[in-house]
Amino acid sequence: MPMLKHPRTGRPHLRTVSITGVGSYLPSRILTNQDLEKLIDTTDEWITSRTGIKERRIAAPHEATSDLAFAAAKQALHDAKISADQIDLIIVATITPDMLFPSTACLVQQKLGACRAAAFDIEAACSGFVYALDIAAHFVQSHTYDTVLVIGAEKMSSVVDWKDRNTCVLFGDGAGAAVLQNRPTAHGLLTTCLGADGTKATLLDMPGGGSACPASTESLGKGMHFLRMDGKETFKNAVNAMVSAATEALNRCGLTVGQIHCIIPHQANQRIISAVGERLGATEDQVFVNVAKYGNTSAASVAIALDEAVRTGRVRRGDLVLLVVFGAGLTWGAAIIEW
Ligand code: COA
Repeated sequence: MPMLKHPRTGRPHLRTVSITGVGSYLPSRILTNQDLEKLIDTTDEWITSRTGIKERRIAAPHEATSDLAFAAAKQALHDAKISADQIDLIIVATITPDMLFPSTACLVQQKLGACRAAAFDIEAACSGFVYALDIAAHFVQSHTYDTVLVIGAEKMSSVVDWKDRNTCVLFGDGAGAAVLQNRPTAHGLLTTCLGADGTKATLLDMPGGGSACPASTESLGKGMHFLRMDGKETFKNAVNAMVSAATEALNRCGLTVGQIHCIIPHQANQRIISAVGERLGATEDQVFVNVAKYGNTSAASVAIALDEAVRTGRVRRGDLVLLVVFGAGLTWGAAIIEW
């Protein structure tokens, strides 16, 4: 029998991977730019004009990343109309795990009671959700698993230095989740492409707490357990990498940017989002933006945005959706989904 080709990509037709449910969770506490004016030497005007961020969500002290992930996952399971015992695999993308081990995915598995599921974390910083989608899709395409729960979840407030105005204004907490399943339909994930450049690892990092620099009085004193960033260089690399990842994904599917109904870029900074949209030749209407409300929630960012876009009717059945991400590593990626 001849190998079936996918109608859009022209590639051998593996099992179609559909996103059958999405969900998200944002902690209830809102920290506005005006609140930050009282904590550090900054202004609403500076933060808004440089980043587009007006407010961000901050998890309660008792809420860990697995709690945010669990809340988003429950919504996604409800949306997919499946129960926890149907999940074969849980992948959590995060740079703020509850602890170094066990994985946050195992803690989420326990909270959900997903007793049949295998579970592991992946770490690709703000690109994590698209990396996890790619991994999950391969498991479904290859018949290894039928139902995979992918979560991007972060408690960024636990790793930012609240005295450093260069970074603390940028980040927020939250989680987004998606259920991936095989469905006998043409709709689904059309392509994913990933990239990384470890030569630029120091542009955005948190050096303390791992095997290279275990926690010690000295490492604490030097602030090595806080996120550090070269903002200007990160900005330039983000725009270039996101444009080329999006272009590669479009080319792989034989699509032009004009055919995409909704572009969901990583929500780090309005200026990065606008520059990427312009360089791709997209109209403002095509680009989904919610960075003003949540700031940069790292691996959760595009997952939260996708859920919001679906819930508000911004993404409808049959629409072509482009996710494009960038993060520490450096890492980047893009995914095209026929919804
Ligand atoms: N409030 C007021 N002033 C601030 C400030 C704040 N929150 N943060 C920094 N500044 C000051 C700086 O100290 C600097 O002052 P100086 O010139 O006296 O030294 C001045 O503002 C300009 O800083 P600069 O770094 O030139 O600003 P910028 O225009 O590059 O914007 C970022 C800074 C961080 C907003 C921008 O570089 C950026 O968005 N980078 C990408 C960050 C990102 O998205 N990272 C995650 C990727 S996944």
